[in-house]
Amino acid sequence: MKIVFLGPPGAGKGTQAVRLCGEKGIAHLSTGDMLREAVRVGTEVGLKAKSYMDSGALVPDDVVIRIIEETLSRLGWEKSFLFDGFPRTVAQAEALGEMLKTRGAGLDHVVYLETSAGVAVERLSGRQTCRKCGANFHEKNMPPKRAGACDHCGGELYQRDDDRPESIRNRLQVYEAQTADLIRYYADKGLLRRVSGDLPAGDVYAEVQQVLGF
Ligand code: AP5
Repeated sequence: MKIVFLGPPGAGKGTQAVRLCGEKGIAHLSTGDMLREAVRVGTEVGLKAKSYMDSGALVPDDVVIRIIEETLSRLGWEKSFLFDGFPRTVAQAEALGEMLKTRGAGLDHVVYLETSAGVAVERLSGRQTCRKCGANFHEKNMPPKRAGACDHCGGELYQRDDDRPESIRNRLQVYEAQTADLIRYYADKGLLRRVSGDLPAGDVYAEVQQVLGF
């Protein structure tokens, strides 16, 4: 099965993807996580991506398309994948469609986590991310058991550079300008499944499972 999670920053794509992939044995492909790792390690891609990410802009299409193609080739095209944060432009969606088609595959579902801007801002400004394993918490909605430490690996929790107020505003504008078109693109293909992203995480998960037929 091949699934895409779409939605604005803060919709809960990562939160839902980690749970679903963990329970169903699906490979979780988050371009945001891949790019943050490239920045941390200091690869050529990371050096190129950092300034775009810090300001909340999109990294150029060719860079992320190459990352995805290399990752799928390494893991095997026949596997079940959940794409989280990719595609983000119609050009990326077309490239993904083409690379899957040439391997005799295609997307099964595109899950759109519909989330209001106010909820997204509140979630992102309170998000705490584990420096070691990347798990996400929220100071109010999903606090860690011990302040400042990850429940899963004990790693230090920090605020992402792009979760500062000026970057959040920019990310939401970028989403409206460059990513929202994807909703129509996938609706026209009959792949779009709508889920209410504003609900508590457990309720969102129940809806996600329902639209995916699990
Ligand atoms: P990326 O890491 O993909 O960020 P994003 O899309 O902005 O999404 P987020 O990770 O911020 O939010 P999310 O929807 O995953 O929410 P989460 O589950 O964490 O990308 C970062 C940057 O990388 C981009 O800005 C861009 O520069 C670059 N990039 C990445 N992919 C790219 C691509 N394809 N093309 C070009 N550039 C690309 O939840 C948020 C918070 O809310 C957490 O604290 C969580 O605990 C809490 N929460 C989650 N769900 C709920 C709920 N239901 N109720 C209450 N709280 C909740």
